[in-house]
Amino acid sequence: MKRHHSDPRLPRKLYIKTYGCQMNVYDSGRMADLLAPLGYAATDAPEGADLVILNTCHIREKAAEKVYSELGRLRILKEESAERGNQMLIAVAGCVAQAESEEMRRRAPVVDLIVGPQTYHRLPELVARAHRSTGAVLDTEFPAESKFDHLPDTQAVDGPSAFLSVQEGCDKFCTFCVVPYTRGSEFSRPAQAVLAEARRLVASGVREITLLGQNVNAYHGEGPEGRDWSLARLIYGLAEIDGLARIRYTTSHPRDMDDALIKAHGEVDALMPYLHLPVQSGSDTILKAMNRRHTADDYRHLIDRIRNARPDIAMSGDFIVGFPGESDLDFADTLKLVTDVTYASAFSFKYSARPGTPASTAGQQVPEAVKTDRLAALQQILDAQQVAFNHATVGCQAPVLFERIGRRQGQMVGRTPWLQAVYVEAGPEMLGQIAPVTLVGANAKSLTGTLASPAGETAHPTTVQVA
Ligand code: SAH
Ligand code: SF4
Ligand code: F3S
Repeated sequence: MKRHHSDPRLPRKLYIKTYGCQMNVYDSGRMADLLAPLGYAATDAPEGADLVILNTCHIREKAAEKVYSELGRLRILKEESAERGNQMLIAVAGCVAQAESEEMRRRAPVVDLIVGPQTYHRLPELVARAHRSTGAVLDTEFPAESKFDHLPDTQAVDGPSAFLSVQEGCDKFCTFCVVPYTRGSEFSRPAQAVLAEARRLVASGVREITLLGQNVNAYHGEGPEGRDWSLARLIYGLAEIDGLARIRYTTSHPRDMDDALIKAHGEVDALMPYLHLPVQSGSDTILKAMNRRHTADDYRHLIDRIRNARPDIAMSGDFIVGFPGESDLDFADTLKLVTDVTYASAFSFKYSARPGTPASTAGQQVPEAVKTDRLAALQQILDAQQVAFNHATVGCQAPVLFERIGRRQGQMVGRTPWLQAVYVEAGPEMLGQIAPVTLVGANAKSLTGTLASPAGETAHPTTVQVA
């Protein structure tokens, strides 16, 4: 017998698979919130789901191609569901949906619904239309209204650490990047809306909030007094919320790192000493060709100022190797910058030509083998820096926020202020608590620690020296 999907009382299974950045993670949570009133409850496997959403990423070719192979697998599941008399709806959301909607319609007829990052607040209506329609329903507009005004209050709180999108889109147009095209132009949510969402998160047990934006430090949301608030002002406002112990933000652009934000790192206890500040390259020629609009020395000076304000800050970054025209000397400049700055963690990628971006048609594309060698050389240095950073914290006592129960019996996993994962023997009652932990061992990706005696002094974070 065919199930009647228009009956709002029926429990339905929703499977969401998320690719890409933290903003997609946030959006996936909001999609679940939007669909809950229609009877959709989250499930952790696509088999037997009534609605599958792939929330996709277009940043590099590999990320986009993953979506098409997943759709191939889903086609089989959809056919199996149909044989049992069930209709499985398949939706593609996120940046691939935005960038390739027409191509996707042609290439993957299995898709019932294509929705962009700025229109997913219309999902309930689109899902209803997809049930009635024979072809794919498509909504990839950049509407005048903000989706944030149409989203229900956050419900899907998952543990003591939460993401909160405060800014979206980008007007910087780095020549390699698709984000300005997939997410649209820069937009900041009003400060009051952000503060209200943060208070709700804290009331449901959240202790740490990571503010999100493709260019989060370009935040300039309308303030309560009518004047815009900067990210620094917003952080001071959030720091007043009782129970909110930790504030982080990501991703930042070097050009938007203003004095007030740097000062906040020295003044706001809840603002964690970790900063993801992508530089992409250490060569001024390449930075110019990328349209980053700063030099390698601008970035070095910026790091000096940030470290003056907060000496123990853990630096993180993003790098692209093999950007068109990158010579051996340009690449050597990147290695030099990495050595000068020293990172606690970093992400590095081979340049991937993205359709529609200016760099993709530049004459001097770098051969794949050269990119592979450069990536390996860069990652060797970055990995060594990460290990050194982790080892430098061994022997310290650090406040750890326990975020989840570990896989081993009696084990909890938490994070230090510097965003290192720490495995500690502790009971599940520690979930959501911040407790002093003595860091006893380190490897590349994580640390081990022991709960310090409750009377133990918490070491001042600035006692950590990075080698
Ligand atoms: N807004 C952030 C970055 C967002 S994209 C910023 O300005 O730094 C995340 C990272 O993906 C980028 O920092 C960059 O390192 C990488 N990236 C973006 N486009 C890429 C491309 N075409 N090829 C390879 N890496 C890319
Ligand atoms: Fe992309 Fe970031 Fe550059 Fe914007 S600032 S175009 S998101 S890399
Ligand atoms: Fe990817 Fe879109 Fe985020 S392209 S990195 S999901 S903004």
